Amino acid sequence: MRLRLGVNIDHVATIRNARGGDHPDPVRAARLAAEAGADGITAHLREDRRHVTDADIDRLIGEIDLPLNLEMAATQEMLTIALAHRPHAACIVPEKRQERTTEGGLDAAGQHNSLAHFVDRLGEANIRVSLFIEPSEQQIAAAMRLGAPVVEFHTGRYAHAEGEERSAELKRIADCAALAVKNGIEPHAGHGLTFDNVVPVAAIPQLAELNIGHFLVGEAIFDGLDTSVRRMRELIAR
Ligand code: PXP
Repeated sequence: MRLRLGVNIDHVATIRNARGGDHPDPVRAARLAAEAGADGITAHLREDRRHVTDADIDRLIGEIDLPLNLEMAATQEMLTIALAHRPHAACIVPEKRQERTTEGGLDAAGQHNSLAHFVDRLGEANIRVSLFIEPSEQQIAAAMRLGAPVVEFHTGRYAHAEGEERSAELKRIADCAALAVKNGIEPHAGHGLTFDNVVPVAAIPQLAELNIGHFLVGEAIFDGLDTSVRRMRELIAR
């Protein structure tokens, strides 16, 4: 099974929004990412619309052939939008207004009752639901109770750790990927992945998909998006 690469285009929209207007266009970036070998496009429609907007989601659905993975908070507003657009997948993420980025995984275990409604409604609409969780047995058990077909492990701790701590984080992700598969859940991973740290994560055989955004958009400034996506694909293929 080939490990899929989902390219997150949020930060193309961040740059556009710094000046208002419509340049650079995240949908154009999605098209380029598709040509460079991305297997999917990921976009996080935040409550405060700080990067992608509702109009971007409309266009991503209408103009891009790749599957869209819509990252969303578990709110009624986002559920209504997801049900109206029916993206291929929806990844439920925790969202705090003050955070710079999604700082940790969902507490699927502690929030079972509030998440169940969202997992059920999205699943009934044939949207593949994923829960963005920390790689832990407890969170996988919670995802199983919720009936989520997919989990995405937050790799932020791995990405920021060094030395032995990094090895321990990698092992935690690998063990949890194996546990997820054993229990019929498809594991994905993402957050903070770069050319320098992606290879050991991509080598975890059970992982089906990596979602990568900030680094690829940053590298695109120097080498272009096509080159940065192609290079990431090559590293993942190793
Ligand atoms: N996966 C999820 C669920 C995320 O929320 C994010 C960050 O928006 C990513 C992957 C990508 O993280 P990064 O932008 O650090 O590559």
